[in-house]
Amino acid sequence: MTVIVTGGAGFIGSNFIFHMLSAHPEDRIVCADKLTYAGNLSTLRPVMEESSFRFVKLDICDRAGVYALFEEEKPDAVVNFAAESHVDRSIEDPGVFLRTNIIGTGVLMDACREFGIGRFHQVGTDEVYGDLPLDRSDLLFTEETPLRASSPYSASKAGADLLVMAYHRTYGLPVTLSRCSNNYGPYQFPEKLIPLMIANCLNDKPLPVYGEGKNVRDWLYVEDHCRAVDLVLRKGREGECYNIGGHNEMHNIDIVKLICAELGKPESLITFVTDRKGHDQRYAIDPAKIRRELGWTPETGFQDGLRKTIRWYLDNRSWWEEIISGEYQSYYQRMYGGR
Ligand code: NAD
Ligand code: TYD
Repeated sequence: MTVIVTGGAGFIGSNFIFHMLSAHPEDRIVCADKLTYAGNLSTLRPVMEESSFRFVKLDICDRAGVYALFEEEKPDAVVNFAAESHVDRSIEDPGVFLRTNIIGTGVLMDACREFGIGRFHQVGTDEVYGDLPLDRSDLLFTEETPLRASSPYSASKAGADLLVMAYHRTYGLPVTLSRCSNNYGPYQFPEKLIPLMIANCLNDKPLPVYGEGKNVRDWLYVEDHCRAVDLVLRKGREGECYNIGGHNEMHNIDIVKLICAELGKPESLITFVTDRKGHDQRYAIDPAKIRRELGWTPETGFQDGLRKTIRWYLDNRSWWEEIISGEYQSYYQRMYGGR
């Protein structure tokens, strides 16, 4: 089949493309990506020449461009990773999050209706459920947990999720939706916690921990997420949502200390900075449905995954050094200077 993967020059989308090309060599993968600050064509260099792969620079909000691509490729399926994805940026400037995450998703689904499609899969986040208290480890997000987004980012993703389910109910569009917990692994943009701390550690720069570092995130190695999305795409039931996570809750401060230990850097680099506005306390996914229905379980434990990730950033310094030498510097100054 031909699969359009949007946002495939970003972190999870690129890992998904690598997974698909190796797991399903019979499929054709067409990556459509606007190449925002978060998209990086050099990430896709290893597959650029493959005959079953095509890259198209495209904004998912560009209706004429999206329709032209569908006309040309006649895709069997679409997997939508394209999004503005960073909470701190959404607090600074929400508008582009509403545009790409909600309007863009709508444009893609309109094209799916117009040209006919076997499956539209929306890549969602557990952040749409809001947060859980730190002292209630018995509580987990299930697919039935009400949406209660806290940030402009998560609210825009919740809007997209609602639209996806509405297109299923109203037009019968064959959709699936997955909501994953925090990912980590190769090719993650160094604005997110783990790669930012690795890069700063390697440059002996302060490690800015928000608040007291007690917030909890539920971490999943990116390849496990990619396998799960592939499984939902092929075997998931139409109109259903699947939570993806591996029961791996960690306090932020413990992750930063682990990174220091792995890199042999002193914990004195840790600097507590002003907390994020509206900072979600804890995320924790109940993945029982995807395990029960599709037999998915994570394969990479956290310690192993973190070591592999750190190794990747050590071995691929030019990938992230190029990023942090550009516009990133002014982002960093805006976000962390005087915090
Ligand atoms: P990312 O920011 O690394 O990549 C986003 C990609 O989308 C970039 O390549 C960017 O160029 C592209 N893009 C942005 N706007 C676009 C537009 N208008 N048209 C076309 N392309 C556009 O994000 P990521 O971390 O890889 O996340 C991918 C998806 O997974 C997002 O939908 C995100 O909400 C979701 N998600 C992420 C996580 C996580 O931990 N990173 C967890 C759960 C879900
Ligand atoms: P992040 O990687 O931005 O993911 P999200 O907010 O979408 O879960 O942040 C993960 C956690 O790490 C979150 O609680 C905020 C915190 N954090 C810091 O303490 N310092 C930082 O510099 C960053 C980027 C995040």
